[in-house]
Amino acid sequence: MANVTVIGAQWGDEGKGKIVDWLAERADAVVRFQGGHNAGHTLVVGENVYKLSLLPSGIVTGTLSIIGNGVVLDPWALRDEMAKLRGQGVSITTENFALADNCALILPIHRDLDGLRETAAGSGKIGTTGRGIGPAYEDKVGRRAIRVCDLAHLDALDAQLDRLCAHHDALRAGFGEPPVDRARLITDLKEIAPFVLEYAQPVWKRLNKVRKAGARILFEGAQGVLLDVDHGTYPFVTSSNTVSGTAASGSGLGPSAAGFVLGIVKAYTTRVGSGPFPTELEDETGQRLGERGHEFGTVTGRKRRCGWFDAVIVRQSCAVSGVTGIALTKLDVLDGFETIKICTGYRLNGKVYDYLPAHAAEQAAVEPIYEEMAGWQETTAGARSWADLPAQAIKYITRVQELIETPVALVSTSPQREDTILVRDPFAD
Ligand code: GDP
Ligand code: IMO
Ligand code: MG
Repeated sequence: MANVTVIGAQWGDEGKGKIVDWLAERADAVVRFQGGHNAGHTLVVGENVYKLSLLPSGIVTGTLSIIGNGVVLDPWALRDEMAKLRGQGVSITTENFALADNCALILPIHRDLDGLRETAAGSGKIGTTGRGIGPAYEDKVGRRAIRVCDLAHLDALDAQLDRLCAHHDALRAGFGEPPVDRARLITDLKEIAPFVLEYAQPVWKRLNKVRKAGARILFEGAQGVLLDVDHGTYPFVTSSNTVSGTAASGSGLGPSAAGFVLGIVKAYTTRVGSGPFPTELEDETGQRLGERGHEFGTVTGRKRRCGWFDAVIVRQSCAVSGVTGIALTKLDVLDGFETIKICTGYRLNGKVYDYLPAHAAEQAAVEPIYEEMAGWQETTAGARSWADLPAQAIKYITRVQELIETPVALVSTSPQREDTILVRDPFAD
């Protein structure tokens, strides 16, 4: 089990970036395998704060960082992010960074469409990050995408552009928008091509080679299982599979490469954007969780919706993603609560559910069933060993573990890299 696959087990923002950064020092390669720059991962190392959307979190420790084929790549966003990180002293070179030559690109027309659709959707709005993620994945499976490798053959792009523009022009006309400015698109692609091609390669080959040589690979998921296009709260989801199985298809390694599946789980629950959220608290307690946890989106700055820990969804996430162990994050945010609630099941039309039903209206209507525990008044912030935790906090962790039927491997007690308690080493063979 030398490899580790990190995934979010709720609605994203569980603290994946912090945990990947903490693990990255012992990894030989860190790989992003799905999503795009809708992700927002914050890493805090001493006085330095790094915000990453597209680059794997391993880049900060200088670990070989790879963007796999499952990612949708906005090359302009990548260039900006690289410039920002270099400005913070992070070294990014062809030695420590590579991207898959078969990645589908996010183009400006995808961002346009994301915005137009959301505006037109009214109350059916998903609340996307507006970065063109959904439209880019649609074009990928619709076989209309421009991919990284196409940037080396821009003079032979006519037939592909015909297909792409025929589709987009019809949609744009429906929104009263002018057709795609094809000449501008080609100029933009020509301008960005040399930058992208410098890092492009068949990363499946490189990864298979390092794996055979015994390297430890750390897969970095984005979003969370409840945002998975199959297993999440559809249609209020993102447009990729966020479950652990995607690590294989999104990188070019087989399923046996996933290794230890580490589900990242916040000690309470948050969500950005629209959609069902059974334990949401629209009262003072929700406000308090948001303030204590600084729950504002890294990407859009939106306030995150907050609520109590929902053991039902996490148990489900752990099951559909084959989670080996979890990292429980932001335990410190619960410090000082007199009582803490945990959702153990749902009630709907007189029936008790131990899972989240698939239908959107049912997901929106379920009533959480809570059990209540005494909180703790001591601080857990900055704790680095089990012995530093108050007895009541240990009770909480133990109960979470029982309810989700999955063991705790790590506990995180602050945004800082080192404020992490190791219970079971995910990299141990
Ligand atoms: P990600 O998208 O899963 O990587 O998570 P985000 O970075 O979007 O959001 C998590 C936020 O919580 C970031 O601001 C982190 O710095 C912060 N964070 C991570 N772990 C902890 C923790 O254990 N305690 C506290 N207080 N903050 C944490
Ligand atoms: P990280 O990796 C939280 C949400 C959006 C919206 C839905 C669809 O930081 O955990 P999209 O732009 O993907 O089409 O939006 O998914 N969303 C996230 N929420 N964390 C994320 O990433 C997210 N990425 C997308 O808010 O509800
Ligand atoms: Mg985030």
